[in-house]
Amino acid sequence: MKTIAFANQKGGTGKTTSAINLGHALARMGRRILVIDFDPQGHAAVSLNLDTEPGVANWLMYPSFNTAPLTPEIIQQWLRTTSCENLFLLPGNQMTAKTQRLLAIEEAPISTIRDLLQPVRRMGFDYVLFDTPPSTGGLQEMAAWAADLVVIVTSLDYLSADGVSNFVEMLGVLRSQKKWSGKLAGILPTFYDEQTRTTREQMAHLEKAFPGQVFTPIHRATLLREASAEGQTIFQKDARSRPAQEYEALAQRLAKLA
Ligand SMILES: Nc1ncnc2c1ncn2[C@@H]1O[C@H](COP(=O)(O)OP(=O)(O)O)[C@@H](O)[C@H]1O
Ligand SMILES: [Mg+2]
Repeated sequence: MKTIAFANQKGGTGKTTSAINLGHALARMGRRILVIDFDPQGHAAVSLNLDTEPGVANWLMYPSFNTAPLTPEIIQQWLRTTSCENLFLLPGNQMTAKTQRLLAIEEAPISTIRDLLQPVRRMGFDYVLFDTPPSTGGLQEMAAWAADLVVIVTSLDYLSADGVSNFVEMLGVLRSQKKWSGKLAGILPTFYDEQTRTTREQMAHLEKAFPGQVFTPIHRATLLREASAEGQTIFQKDARSRPAQEYEALAQRLAKLA
């Protein structure tokens, strides 16, 4: 079982869209996928047209309220099946924000999420994908620390490279001070549009600042927005569309990395 986190301190960069559509792309390749949403906004469930309750807070808080060990059977009851074969979801919701505060009070260690993954490892998933909240502090760091691979998702608006640098720096601190053993899979630029100078410039800037670490960008596509508004993945909406092909190509690259 490999874990991949989709992250950035900024909101609206395409983290949820990428986690869900890559999840479905990998599921279509015959892998069993669990998406865990750590964002209190719960957009992963909403974009798959699913209930946000019960959610990830049950899992995160289990050790605080129970002495018996957490088992796959207990976790199973919180998971959502989706309309996509082999794609499962543990949704986020408003309880996640409360949980984050409780974990802070308890001074929960950086290993909290990785420790909670132990029983998940017995559930037969090939990949667990983390959709993370835009804020730093707490869950985002714990999720990055639990990840074998981190994908930094950045929209190609102006100053996007700055946000990426900050995040790469944070990963460096996790590695040097917290003994993180995962690695940066790469930087995924989104909202690419050849017609717009800013996005071309930002793309060039990213490639210069992070040579060899920038994935082929995902184009800006109304179809992606429509699909999530309709509770569908891009493959359900139109599997032959350009964004579907882009996410499929990325899934194949990621599958080679992990
Ligand atoms: N490549 C894209 N082209 C057009 N719209 C997109 C693209 N990626 C995401 N979106 C839309 O932009 C909004 C924000 O994306 P989302 O994945 O929720 O970002 P985040 O999870 O980083 O906050 C959503 O409405 C989504 O449907
Ligand atoms: Mg999101």
